[in-house]
Amino acid sequence: MQDGRTAWLQQEIDNLKSAGLYNHIRTLDSPMDAWVTIDGRRLLNFCANNYLGLANHPRITQAARDGIENYGVGPGAVRSIAGTTSLHVQLEQRLAEFKNAEACITFQSGFTANLATIPALVGPGDLIFSDELNHASIIDGCRLSRAEVVRYAHNDVADLRRVIAERTDYKRRLIITDGVFSMDGDIAPLDKIAGVAEEHGIMLMVDDAHGEGVLGRGGRGIVDHFGLHGRVDVEVGTLSKAFGVVGGLVAGKAIIIEWLRQRGRPFLFSSAMTAPDTAACIEAVAILGESTELIDRLWANAELFRKEMQAMGFNTGFSQTPIVPVMLGEASLAQQFSRRLFEEGVFAMAIGFPTVARGKARIRVMNSAAHNLADIEIALETFSRVGRELGVIS
Ligand SMILES: Cc1ncc(COP(=O)(O)O)c(C=O)c1O
Repeated sequence: MQDGRTAWLQQEIDNLKSAGLYNHIRTLDSPMDAWVTIDGRRLLNFCANNYLGLANHPRITQAARDGIENYGVGPGAVRSIAGTTSLHVQLEQRLAEFKNAEACITFQSGFTANLATIPALVGPGDLIFSDELNHASIIDGCRLSRAEVVRYAHNDVADLRRVIAERTDYKRRLIITDGVFSMDGDIAPLDKIAGVAEEHGIMLMVDDAHGEGVLGRGGRGIVDHFGLHGRVDVEVGTLSKAFGVVGGLVAGKAIIIEWLRQRGRPFLFSSAMTAPDTAACIEAVAILGESTELIDRLWANAELFRKEMQAMGFNTGFSQTPIVPVMLGEASLAQQFSRRLFEEGVFAMAIGFPTVARGKARIRVMNSAAHNLADIEIALETFSRVGRELGVIS
């Protein structure tokens, strides 16, 4: 029902629609997997962050059922009052061991992990140096902290040095970067950034949401990828992408993790991950610890897809990871491309302004170990057909 107080919202929504920025949300009637069911049709799925295909893995779903059997569903309270079960403690210990970090704490999501961590480390009078393409949850965490945010050019260590040198008025300082950038699939030069942080005595935080389970030995993340153990103060991650479940994690120095248990507001004021989520995440860590099979398949799929797309004449931007953007330029072309793919049985999302800069619209292809070779071949053939039809390749 609309009344005078909310009529402005209809205007805002109409504006979004006429600017082509309105989110039309697809509804799935199947588990998240290589193939999904939408509107009664089976579609080959290249939209999910389900890097290792764990979202519907039989061991993960069984672990969730066992979690319910032993611990029920709801956590009943926030972690600091009565919401911490032995499952939560076990998950944090396993994650700290897996990542070779001093300690780990979990949150309800990667988003809340950032909202907890940044304001716990910096506040008014402090400075944050933030990559200009950092994720929205980092941007919101920075805003909540009320520290001053100084942006540096994307992945540009010289520019980071420049902005650091310009500022002498601060109490504390923190550098924050995404590990893998979710729209371009490129990797932060964390080794060089860690050198700058050490040189200037600045705290360093990385958000490795798209690197967890993907980069490093056996998916141990970006810190492991660059061999930076002990040199990055705090690493934020998510359990909703490669781990296939939901939840957030913060790993790093024990003193920071202890502080987050005292001052991380989403830890103190919002209920914990549920028992089935937590049990499923413990199983995901076990699967990653046992074998690199899924990670090897993920990378093989991604490399094959990228190589063949480039050979056909598509521009795959700066991708270095299983995130492969197919650069198309205009948002209208990206939307038309995505629509045609959908009609042809491939689900791959168009991304345009404001998520990426104007003129940089793309189809973002998320590769997964859930895909087999036949799936990749179908995708390549469909991209080729639609690409020729729309004049993107010849
Ligand atoms: C870099 C980055 N950080 C945080 C998040 C949020 O993770 P979650 O979905 O667990 O809240 C995302 C999710 O897209 C992300 O890409």
